[in-house]
Amino acid sequence: MKAIFIHVRQGFESDAAEEIKDHLKLAEISAASVDADAETAFVRVKLSDEDWQVARQKIKLEKLIFARQLLWQAAQINLPSDGDRASSIIQAIQEHLLPSSGSNAFSALQLETPDTDSSKELSHFCKALTRPIENTLNKLKLLPKGKGAAHLPRINIVMLTGQQASISLSDVGNSSPWTMGIPRLRFPPNAPSRSTLKLEEAFHVFLGATGMAQELRPQMLAVDLGACPGGWTYQFVQRGIQTIAVDNGAIDEKLMASGLVTHLREDAFKFRPHERVDWLVCDVVEQPSKISALIADWFTHDYCKRSIFNLKLPMKQRYRETKDCLRYLETTVNASGRQLKIAAKQLYHDRKEVTVFCSF
Ligand SMILES: C[S@@+](CC[C@H](N)C(=O)[O-])C[C@H]1O[C@@H](n2cnc3c(N)ncnc32)[C@H](O)[C@@H]1O
Repeated sequence: MKAIFIHVRQGFESDAAEEIKDHLKLAEISAASVDADAETAFVRVKLSDEDWQVARQKIKLEKLIFARQLLWQAAQINLPSDGDRASSIIQAIQEHLLPSSGSNAFSALQLETPDTDSSKELSHFCKALTRPIENTLNKLKLLPKGKGAAHLPRINIVMLTGQQASISLSDVGNSSPWTMGIPRLRFPPNAPSRSTLKLEEAFHVFLGATGMAQELRPQMLAVDLGACPGGWTYQFVQRGIQTIAVDNGAIDEKLMASGLVTHLREDAFKFRPHERVDWLVCDVVEQPSKISALIADWFTHDYCKRSIFNLKLPMKQRYRETKDCLRYLETTVNASGRQLKIAAKQLYHDRKEVTVFCSF
């Protein structure tokens, strides 16, 4: 059975399902059916062979907010409970994945599970199976090495249970480089809060390595609304970027000692800078519509060049709420005569929230 296989945050399946249905409609593809069982941490859209190929061209991970990783399932197979799981998987790769991949080889092999608490115990299968499968694929010349092979699709084997696996692939350039879309970021020992990783992940996802080098330079000026204790400010300070931290709370003393931070005990909704700043970030916990209105005002009045902010989503209809906020932001700012570019993602380090990147 061919399908789109999407890794999502556990509990966000229905939002991801609503979103992919919207995208398929736009691409004029009719989904045979959508599996989005609660708490499974994945969504699967069954498609005809022809639609699968069309969707593979048209559906883009960077446009999907609630998808962490985008895979293309060629088959789901049953695995022998006591027998040779590796051989069954290799056979399925040859029989199902290779013919539909549009390629004669692959750039990598990833064995993974949906990101749920219960599937963590399946990860020992992944570890045990990787080496034997890789060895055989190497012998079959299906995993060529070197730069020339880097663009080839990856093999993604998703262990759904000990007895079932999804035999899938991901396209380089239309997938996360991280297995299951989960970046392995190290928590910096001097960072004042764990949410520092949220902004770091956002930089990787929205800017990439090249963008980070160009758009996060010393001498820039940033404003961090709702900054305390300073995890997001820390990301700027590490890069030599001067930061105005707006928050009534207490800010980390080491950050202040850097000499790069100005702490203003002001209301994030009232503060505006005297000059246009390079970055506006905002992690204030407020209704998403209020945050969108605040960000729209900054862009409309040209107070910032780019922004990363969070929309907190405690409600059930997260996709609808996000869509409404982003549409409001786009129409409000564009009415001022400039086109705002907007990207949004439910990041691994996000909780019940999404992170948005905007720039002109
Ligand atoms: C989720 S915390 C921010 C954490 C921060 N990003 C970090 O990495 O350490 C939200 C912060 O927003 C602040 N806040 C809430 N409403 C605010 C307002 N109207 N003006 C300024 N700060 C506000 C709170 O004091 C709190 O420190």
